Amino acid sequence: MKKKIVIANWKMNHDFHETTSFLRNLLKKIFEQKINHNKEIIIAPSFPFLHISNHILQGSPLKIAAQNIHQMDKGSYTGEVSASMLKSIGISKVILGHSERRKFFCEKNNILLEKIKIALKYGFNIIFCIGETYFERNKNQQFNVIKDQLKHTVFHFSENEIKFFHIAYEPIWAIGTGKSATYQQAQKMHEFIRSLFLKKYGENISNKISILYGGSINNFNAKDFFLQKDIDGGLIGNFSLNLENFLKIIYS
Ligand code: PGA
Repeated sequence: MKKKIVIANWKMNHDFHETTSFLRNLLKKIFEQKINHNKEIIIAPSFPFLHISNHILQGSPLKIAAQNIHQMDKGSYTGEVSASMLKSIGISKVILGHSERRKFFCEKNNILLEKIKIALKYGFNIIFCIGETYFERNKNQQFNVIKDQLKHTVFHFSENEIKFFHIAYEPIWAIGTGKSATYQQAQKMHEFIRSLFLKKYGENISNKISILYGGSINNFNAKDFFLQKDIDGGLIGNFSLNLENFLKIIYS
């Protein structure tokens, strides 16, 4: 059985003190409670705190991810952070394609393709987000939208490269709204996504690839999502910011 993966996407939240005390307390609670949660836990804090966060979690099974990287190796891109910089402080996971990056920072498929390439060049694991809008779901276009997003990004890469990916299905209408997809809707979409991987890369990869759900997961609904056959974990925003809530999700 694949281990479920729980990823905290903190977005632009938590300052230095909040980040470090959250992580220290999280470690303490997990080791004190000694409950077998059987989950892979990844935390994505803001850029300035990645180094200290990685340091705090060193030697533990918990891992740190970045929320973004720039698509170029280096150069005159004021305010940006490169994959090699992150690599140099021991970070090797990154979230790419999040709908907030697509919407607020105009990251279209062509830019995402470049970001994936540079991430792979530096050996990053990529948590790649896809998802449809409310309008698209209302018109029953969600399956075509997802197929298209994969076709223009992830499906450009070879079998060997696909091993570095997790997919996060995040319906845009469910992100930060408190209105999650139902676990039935999510399962149906995840099954569809897995079938696309089967068609493109064969059985081995389609079985192995982790497909996470994201969008208003909380400590009450997490368990239902995690019980679904094709849902391999969750990408959690709001409910990962509070330690008690996040622990409940881990133990779901
Ligand atoms: P949410 O965010 O849990 O607050 O809906 C999820 C995400 O954006 O990854």
